[in-house]
Amino acid sequence: MRPLSACLKATREAPHRRGVWRVARVLVTGASGLVGSRLVVRLRDRHEVHGTFHNHAPDFLEHPAERLHAVDIRDLAAFRRLLGKLQPEVVIHCAAMTNVDGCESAPEEARAANVAPVETLASWQKGTDARVVLMSTDYVFDGKSPPYEIDAKPNPLCVYSRTKAQAEEVVRRVPRSLIARSTVIYGADFGHLKRNFAVWLIGELQAGRRVRVVDDQWGTPTISENIAEFLDLAVERGTQGAIHTAVGECVSRFDFARRIARRFSLDVSLITPIKTGELHQPAKRPERPCLSVRKTEQILAVKSWTIDRSLDLLASQLAIPERAVLRPWW
Ligand SMILES: NC(=O)c1ccc[n+]([C@@H]2O[C@H](COP(=O)([O-])OP(=O)(O)OC[C@H]3O[C@@H](n4cnc5c(N)ncnc54)[C@H](OP(=O)(O)O)[C@@H]3O)[C@@H](O)[C@H]2O)c1
Repeated sequence: MRPLSACLKATREAPHRRGVWRVARVLVTGASGLVGSRLVVRLRDRHEVHGTFHNHAPDFLEHPAERLHAVDIRDLAAFRRLLGKLQPEVVIHCAAMTNVDGCESAPEEARAANVAPVETLASWQKGTDARVVLMSTDYVFDGKSPPYEIDAKPNPLCVYSRTKAQAEEVVRRVPRSLIARSTVIYGADFGHLKRNFAVWLIGELQAGRRVRVVDDQWGTPTISENIAEFLDLAVERGTQGAIHTAVGECVSRFDFARRIARRFSLDVSLITPIKTGELHQPAKRPERPCLSVRKTEQILAVKSWTIDRSLDLLASQLAIPERAVLRPWW
Protein backbone atom coordinates (compact mmCIF):
# COMPACT_ATOMS: atom_id res chain seq x y z
CA MET A 1 0.00 0.00 0.00
CA ARG A 2 1.29 3.45 -0.88
CA PRO A 3 2.03 5.73 2.07
CA LEU A 4 -0.56 8.45 2.70
CA SER A 5 1.92 11.20 1.82
CA ALA A 6 2.42 9.69 -1.65
CA CYS A 7 -1.34 9.52 -2.20
CA LEU A 8 -1.72 13.14 -1.15
CA LYS A 9 1.08 14.22 -3.46
CA ALA A 10 -0.46 12.32 -6.38
CA THR A 11 -3.93 13.77 -5.85
CA ARG A 12 -2.47 17.26 -5.39
CA GLU A 13 -0.93 17.01 -8.84
CA ALA A 14 -3.90 15.47 -10.63
CA PRO A 15 -7.40 16.88 -10.92
CA HIS A 16 -9.91 14.71 -9.10
CA ARG A 17 -11.80 12.19 -11.21
CA ARG A 18 -15.12 14.04 -10.74
CA GLY A 19 -13.83 17.45 -11.80
CA VAL A 20 -11.22 20.04 -10.98
CA TRP A 21 -10.36 19.58 -7.35
CA ARG A 22 -7.51 20.08 -4.97
CA VAL A 23 -6.60 18.66 -1.61
CA ALA A 24 -8.11 20.51 1.30
CA ARG A 25 -7.22 20.34 4.98
CA VAL A 26 -10.42 18.95 6.48
CA LEU A 27 -11.19 18.69 10.17
CA VAL A 28 -13.85 16.13 11.10
CA THR A 29 -15.01 16.57 14.68
CA GLY A 30 -16.41 13.41 16.26
CA ALA A 31 -14.18 11.11 14.19
CA SER A 32 -14.77 8.37 16.76
CA GLY A 33 -18.52 8.48 16.08
CA LEU A 34 -20.68 6.76 13.53
CA VAL A 35 -20.70 9.51 10.90
CA GLY A 36 -17.30 11.07 11.61
CA SER A 37 -15.49 7.74 11.28
CA ARG A 38 -16.98 7.11 7.83
CA LEU A 39 -16.10 10.64 6.75
CA VAL A 40 -12.45 10.20 7.69
CA VAL A 41 -12.21 6.99 5.67
CA ARG A 42 -14.13 8.42 2.72
CA LEU A 43 -12.15 11.66 2.43
CA ARG A 44 -8.62 10.82 3.48
CA ASP A 45 -7.22 9.63 0.16
CA ARG A 46 -8.03 12.97 -1.45
CA HIS A 47 -7.66 15.42 1.43
CA GLU A 48 -5.50 16.04 4.42
CA VAL A 49 -8.00 14.79 6.99
CA HIS A 50 -7.75 15.47 10.71
CA GLY A 51 -10.22 14.04 13.21
CA THR A 52 -11.14 14.69 16.81
CA PHE A 53 -12.30 12.33 19.51
CA HIS A 54 -13.13 12.70 23.20
CA ASN A 55 -13.52 9.52 25.26
CA HIS A 56 -12.74 6.91 22.60
CA ALA A 57 -9.54 6.91 20.57
CA PRO A 58 -10.69 5.64 17.14
CA ASP A 59 -8.06 2.92 16.70
CA PHE A 60 -10.36 1.18 14.21
CA LEU A 61 -9.58 3.97 11.74
CA GLU A 62 -5.85 3.19 11.56
CA HIS A 63 -5.39 6.90 10.90
CA PRO A 64 -2.02 8.60 11.47
CA ALA A 65 -1.78 9.50 15.17
CA GLU A 66 -0.65 13.04 14.42
CA ARG A 67 -3.93 13.62 12.57
CA LEU A 68 -6.14 12.47 15.44
CA HIS A 69 -6.70 15.00 18.19
CA ALA A 70 -8.19 14.43 21.63
CA VAL A 71 -10.35 17.37 22.62
CA ASP A 72 -13.39 18.03 24.77
CA ILE A 73 -15.33 20.52 22.65
CA ARG A 74 -17.00 21.86 25.80
CA ASP A 75 -13.57 23.24 26.64
CA LEU A 76 -14.05 26.12 24.23
CA ALA A 77 -10.53 27.50 24.63
CA ALA A 78 -9.03 24.10 23.80
CA PHE A 79 -11.33 23.71 20.80
CA ARG A 80 -10.40 27.16 19.53
CA ARG A 81 -6.70 26.43 20.04
CA LEU A 82 -7.01 23.30 17.92
CA LEU A 83 -8.79 25.21 15.14
CA GLY A 84 -6.09 27.88 15.26
CA LYS A 85 -3.32 25.29 15.16
CA LEU A 86 -4.73 23.24 12.28
CA GLN A 87 -6.23 26.11 10.26
CA PRO A 88 -8.60 23.71 8.44
CA GLU A 89 -10.15 24.86 5.18
CA VAL A 90 -13.23 22.74 5.83
CA VAL A 91 -14.65 21.76 9.22
CA ILE A 92 -17.30 19.03 9.28
CA HIS A 93 -18.76 19.24 12.75
CA CYS A 94 -20.20 15.87 13.80
CA ALA A 95 -19.26 15.88 17.50
CA ALA A 96 -22.30 16.31 19.71
CA MET A 97 -24.13 15.00 22.74
CA THR A 98 -26.37 12.58 20.82
CA ASN A 99 -28.20 10.86 23.70
CA VAL A 100 -31.65 12.41 23.27
CA ASP A 101 -32.97 11.48 26.73
CA GLY A 102 -29.59 12.34 28.31
CA CYS A 103 -29.95 15.86 26.90
CA GLU A 104 -33.43 16.15 28.38
CA SER A 105 -32.19 15.49 31.89
CA ALA A 106 -29.06 17.64 31.51
CA PRO A 107 -30.03 20.68 29.39
CA GLU A 108 -27.01 22.76 30.42
CA GLU A 109 -24.65 19.97 29.47
CA ALA A 110 -26.50 19.57 26.16
CA ARG A 111 -26.08 23.26 25.39
CA ALA A 112 -22.42 23.12 26.36
CA ALA A 113 -21.81 20.24 23.93
CA ASN A 114 -24.17 21.09 21.09
CA VAL A 115 -24.38 24.90 20.91
CA ALA A 116 -21.43 26.63 22.58
CA PRO A 117 -18.74 24.82 20.48
CA VAL A 118 -20.65 25.77 17.32
CA GLU A 119 -20.58 29.42 18.45
CA THR A 120 -16.82 29.05 18.93
CA LEU A 121 -16.49 27.53 15.47
CA ALA A 122 -18.48 30.41 13.96
CA SER A 123 -16.43 33.07 15.71
CA TRP A 124 -13.12 31.38 14.70
CA GLN A 125 -14.35 31.16 11.08
CA LYS A 126 -14.76 34.96 10.88
CA GLY A 127 -11.05 35.51 10.45
CA THR A 128 -10.69 32.79 7.80
CA ASP A 129 -12.04 31.52 4.47
CA ALA A 130 -12.91 28.18 6.05
CA ARG A 131 -16.15 26.41 5.24
CA VAL A 132 -18.22 24.96 8.05
CA VAL A 133 -20.52 21.95 7.70
CA LEU A 134 -22.83 21.14 10.63
CA MET A 135 -24.36 17.70 11.07
CA SER A 136 -27.92 18.21 12.22
CA THR A 137 -31.06 16.20 12.66
CA ASP A 138 -34.64 15.63 11.50
CA TYR A 139 -35.58 16.23 15.15
CA VAL A 140 -35.36 20.00 14.57
CA PHE A 141 -38.84 19.54 13.00
CA ASP A 142 -42.04 18.86 14.94
CA GLY A 143 -43.01 15.95 12.70
CA LYS A 144 -46.54 17.25 12.09
CA SER A 145 -46.33 18.04 8.35
CA PRO A 146 -43.96 15.68 6.55
CA PRO A 147 -42.08 15.44 4.32
CA TYR A 148 -39.72 18.27 5.32
CA GLU A 149 -37.89 20.13 2.59
CA ILE A 150 -34.43 21.61 3.22
CA ASP A 151 -35.90 25.09 3.76
CA ALA A 152 -38.69 24.00 6.14
CA LYS A 153 -38.97 25.90 9.41
CA PRO A 154 -37.64 24.07 12.48
CA ASN A 155 -39.94 23.67 15.50
CA PRO A 156 -38.04 21.51 17.99
CA LEU A 157 -39.91 19.54 20.67
CA CYS A 158 -37.18 18.53 23.14
CA VAL A 159 -33.88 19.75 24.59
CA TYR A 160 -31.67 17.81 22.14
CA SER A 161 -33.68 19.14 19.18
CA ARG A 162 -33.58 22.68 20.54
CA THR A 163 -29.80 22.61 20.91
CA LYS A 164 -29.41 21.32 17.34
CA ALA A 165 -31.83 23.97 16.03
CA GLN A 166 -29.84 26.64 17.91
CA ALA A 167 -26.63 25.30 16.37
CA GLU A 168 -28.28 25.53 12.94
CA GLU A 169 -29.17 29.18 13.65
CA VAL A 170 -25.53 29.93 14.48
CA VAL A 171 -24.21 28.18 11.37
CA ARG A 172 -26.78 29.83 9.10
CA ARG A 173 -25.00 33.14 9.79
CA VAL A 174 -21.59 31.72 8.78
CA PRO A 175 -20.69 32.57 5.15
CA ARG A 176 -20.59 29.59 2.72
CA SER A 177 -21.70 27.18 5.44
CA LEU A 178 -23.79 24.04 5.10
CA ILE A 179 -26.30 22.31 7.39
CA ALA A 180 -26.62 18.57 6.71
CA ARG A 181 -29.60 16.92 8.42
CA SER A 182 -29.96 13.20 8.85
CA THR A 183 -32.00 10.72 10.83
CA VAL A 184 -31.91 7.35 12.66
CA ILE A 185 -28.30 6.83 11.64
CA TYR A 186 -26.97 3.28 11.73
CA GLY A 187 -23.92 1.32 10.68
CA ALA A 188 -21.73 -1.64 11.59
CA ASP A 189 -20.01 -1.46 14.97
CA PHE A 190 -16.30 -1.24 14.30
CA GLY A 191 -13.91 -1.04 17.22
CA HIS A 192 -15.78 0.30 20.21
CA LEU A 193 -18.52 2.15 18.30
CA LYS A 194 -21.66 2.30 20.38
CA ARG A 195 -24.60 0.19 19.28
CA ASN A 196 -27.16 1.86 17.08
CA PHE A 197 -30.76 0.75 16.49
CA ALA A 198 -30.06 -1.61 13.56
CA VAL A 199 -27.07 -3.32 15.19
CA TRP A 200 -28.87 -3.56 18.52
CA LEU A 201 -31.94 -5.11 16.90
CA ILE A 202 -29.91 -7.68 14.96
CA GLY A 203 -28.11 -8.69 18.18
CA GLU A 204 -31.37 -9.09 20.08
CA LEU A 205 -33.08 -11.13 17.36
CA GLN A 206 -30.00 -13.30 16.86
CA ALA A 207 -30.13 -14.08 20.58
CA GLY A 208 -33.81 -15.02 20.19
CA ARG A 209 -35.00 -12.21 22.44
CA ARG A 210 -38.34 -10.47 21.98
CA VAL A 211 -38.16 -6.74 21.24
CA ARG A 212 -40.76 -3.98 21.43
CA VAL A 213 -40.47 -1.34 18.72
CA VAL A 214 -42.58 1.77 18.28
CA ASP A 215 -44.85 1.93 15.26
CA ASP A 216 -45.79 5.60 15.68
CA GLN A 217 -42.35 7.15 15.11
CA TRP A 218 -41.47 7.53 11.46
CA GLY A 219 -38.25 8.57 9.82
CA THR A 220 -35.79 8.09 7.00
CA PRO A 221 -33.22 5.70 8.57
CA THR A 222 -29.86 6.23 6.94
CA ILE A 223 -26.64 4.26 6.94
CA SER A 224 -23.58 6.32 7.92
CA GLU A 225 -21.70 5.44 4.70
CA ASN A 226 -24.43 7.08 2.60
CA ILE A 227 -24.07 10.26 4.67
CA ALA A 228 -20.30 10.25 4.12
CA GLU A 229 -20.84 9.99 0.37
CA PHE A 230 -23.35 12.86 0.37
CA LEU A 231 -20.94 15.02 2.37
CA ASP A 232 -18.00 14.08 0.16
CA LEU A 233 -19.90 15.49 -2.83
CA ALA A 234 -21.05 18.54 -0.87
CA VAL A 235 -17.49 19.36 0.18
CA GLU A 236 -16.21 18.87 -3.34
CA ARG A 237 -18.86 21.13 -4.83
CA GLY A 238 -18.79 23.76 -2.14
CA THR A 239 -22.51 23.25 -1.46
CA GLN A 240 -24.01 25.92 0.79
CA GLY A 241 -27.27 26.26 2.71
CA ALA A 242 -28.91 23.01 3.79
CA ILE A 243 -29.14 19.45 2.49
CA HIS A 244 -30.80 16.28 3.70
CA THR A 245 -28.38 13.37 3.85
CA ALA A 246 -30.95 10.61 4.13
CA VAL A 247 -32.63 7.77 2.27
CA GLY A 248 -35.65 8.60 0.17
CA GLU A 249 -38.01 6.28 2.06
CA CYS A 250 -39.99 7.23 5.15
CA VAL A 251 -40.86 4.24 7.33
CA SER A 252 -42.05 3.60 10.87
CA ARG A 253 -39.45 2.27 13.27
CA PHE A 254 -41.49 -0.95 13.44
CA ASP A 255 -41.47 -1.38 9.65
CA PHE A 256 -37.74 -0.63 9.56
CA ALA A 257 -37.19 -3.30 12.22
CA ARG A 258 -39.16 -5.84 10.18
CA ARG A 259 -37.15 -5.04 7.05
CA ILE A 260 -33.93 -5.55 8.96
CA ALA A 261 -35.19 -8.87 10.35
CA ARG A 262 -36.16 -10.11 6.90
CA ARG A 263 -32.87 -9.03 5.31
CA PHE A 264 -30.91 -10.88 7.99
CA SER A 265 -33.23 -13.93 7.92
CA LEU A 266 -34.22 -13.36 11.55
CA ASP A 267 -37.53 -14.12 13.26
CA VAL A 268 -39.88 -11.21 12.47
CA SER A 269 -42.44 -12.51 14.97
CA LEU A 270 -40.09 -11.55 17.83
CA ILE A 271 -40.82 -7.87 17.06
CA THR A 272 -43.90 -6.45 18.79
CA PRO A 273 -45.28 -3.03 17.83
CA ILE A 274 -45.85 -0.61 20.68
CA LYS A 275 -46.75 3.06 21.04
CA THR A 276 -44.21 5.72 22.00
CA GLY A 277 -46.19 6.53 25.16
CA GLU A 278 -45.50 3.03 26.53
CA LEU A 279 -41.76 3.75 26.65
CA HIS A 280 -42.09 6.70 29.05
CA GLN A 281 -39.10 8.39 27.42
CA PRO A 282 -38.15 11.70 29.06
CA ALA A 283 -37.72 13.54 25.73
CA LYS A 284 -40.67 14.17 23.43
CA ARG A 285 -40.01 12.82 19.92
CA PRO A 286 -41.56 14.16 16.70
CA GLU A 287 -43.92 11.64 15.12
CA ARG A 288 -43.10 11.95 11.40
CA PRO A 289 -40.07 14.18 10.86
CA CYS A 290 -39.48 12.51 7.47
CA LEU A 291 -36.81 14.34 5.46
CA SER A 292 -37.37 14.98 1.78
CA VAL A 293 -34.24 14.34 -0.31
CA ARG A 294 -35.80 15.76 -3.50
CA LYS A 295 -33.88 19.05 -3.50
CA THR A 296 -30.68 17.51 -2.19
CA GLU A 297 -30.65 15.02 -5.05
CA GLN A 298 -31.03 17.93 -7.47
CA ILE A 299 -28.36 20.06 -5.80
CA LEU A 300 -25.78 17.28 -5.64
CA ALA A 301 -26.94 15.48 -8.82
CA VAL A 302 -26.98 12.17 -6.97
CA LYS A 303 -29.57 9.57 -5.94
CA SER A 304 -29.82 8.76 -2.27
CA TRP A 305 -29.51 5.09 -1.40
CA THR A 306 -32.46 2.82 -0.72
CA ILE A 307 -32.95 0.99 2.57
CA ASP A 308 -32.35 -2.31 0.73
CA ARG A 309 -28.99 -1.15 -0.62
CA SER A 310 -28.02 0.15 2.83
CA LEU A 311 -28.93 -3.14 4.52
CA ASP A 312 -26.87 -5.05 1.93
CA LEU A 313 -23.83 -2.98 2.90
CA LEU A 314 -24.57 -3.48 6.60
CA ALA A 315 -24.82 -7.24 6.03
CA SER A 316 -21.48 -7.34 4.22
CA GLN A 317 -19.78 -5.38 7.01
CA LEU A 318 -21.33 -7.40 9.83
CA ALA A 319 -20.18 -10.58 8.08
CA ILE A 320 -16.55 -9.60 8.79
CA PRO A 321 -15.68 -11.76 11.85
CA GLU A 322 -13.27 -9.31 13.52
CA ARG A 323 -14.58 -5.86 12.79
CA ALA A 324 -11.53 -4.13 14.16
CA VAL A 325 -10.75 -1.87 11.19
CA LEU A 326 -13.13 0.23 9.11
CA ARG A 327 -12.14 -0.30 5.48
CA PRO A 328 -13.32 1.58 2.36
CA TRP A 329 -16.76 0.27 1.38
CA TRP A 330 -17.09 1.75 -2.12
N1 LIG B 1 -27.26 9.11 15.48
C1 LIG B 1 -28.36 9.57 14.89
O1 LIG B 1 -29.33 8.85 14.71
C2 LIG B 1 -28.39 11.01 14.41
C3 LIG B 1 -29.51 11.43 13.72
C4 LIG B 1 -29.52 12.72 13.20
C5 LIG B 1 -28.44 13.55 13.39
N2 LIG B 1 -27.37 13.14 14.10
C6 LIG B 1 -26.26 14.07 14.28
O2 LIG B 1 -25.17 13.59 13.52
C7 LIG B 1 -23.95 13.89 14.19
C8 LIG B 1 -23.11 12.64 14.29
O3 LIG B 1 -23.86 11.66 14.98
P1 LIG B 1 -23.28 10.21 15.27
O4 LIG B 1 -24.41 9.27 15.25
O5 LIG B 1 -22.09 9.96 14.42
O6 LIG B 1 -22.82 10.41 16.77
P2 LIG B 1 -22.10 9.37 17.75
O7 LIG B 1 -21.81 8.08 17.06
O8 LIG B 1 -22.90 9.38 19.00
O9 LIG B 1 -20.71 10.11 18.03
C9 LIG B 1 -20.66 11.29 18.74
C10 LIG B 1 -19.28 11.86 18.56
O10 LIG B 1 -19.19 13.11 19.27
C11 LIG B 1 -18.06 13.05 20.11
N3 LIG B 1 -18.31 13.84 21.30
C12 LIG B 1 -19.36 13.79 22.13
N4 LIG B 1 -19.21 14.66 23.14
C13 LIG B 1 -18.02 15.29 22.93
C14 LIG B 1 -17.29 16.27 23.63
N5 LIG B 1 -17.74 16.82 24.76
N6 LIG B 1 -16.10 16.67 23.13
C15 LIG B 1 -15.61 16.14 21.99
N7 LIG B 1 -16.26 15.19 21.27
C16 LIG B 1 -17.45 14.77 21.76
C17 LIG B 1 -17.86 11.59 20.45
O11 LIG B 1 -16.53 11.38 20.87
P3 LIG B 1 -16.08 10.13 21.83
O12 LIG B 1 -16.94 8.95 21.43
O13 LIG B 1 -14.64 9.93 21.51
O14 LIG B 1 -16.31 10.56 23.22
C18 LIG B 1 -18.17 10.96 19.09
O15 LIG B 1 -17.07 11.04 18.24
C19 LIG B 1 -24.32 14.51 15.52
O16 LIG B 1 -24.16 15.90 15.41
C20 LIG B 1 -25.78 14.16 15.71
O17 LIG B 1 -26.45 15.16 16.43
C21 LIG B 1 -27.31 11.88 14.61
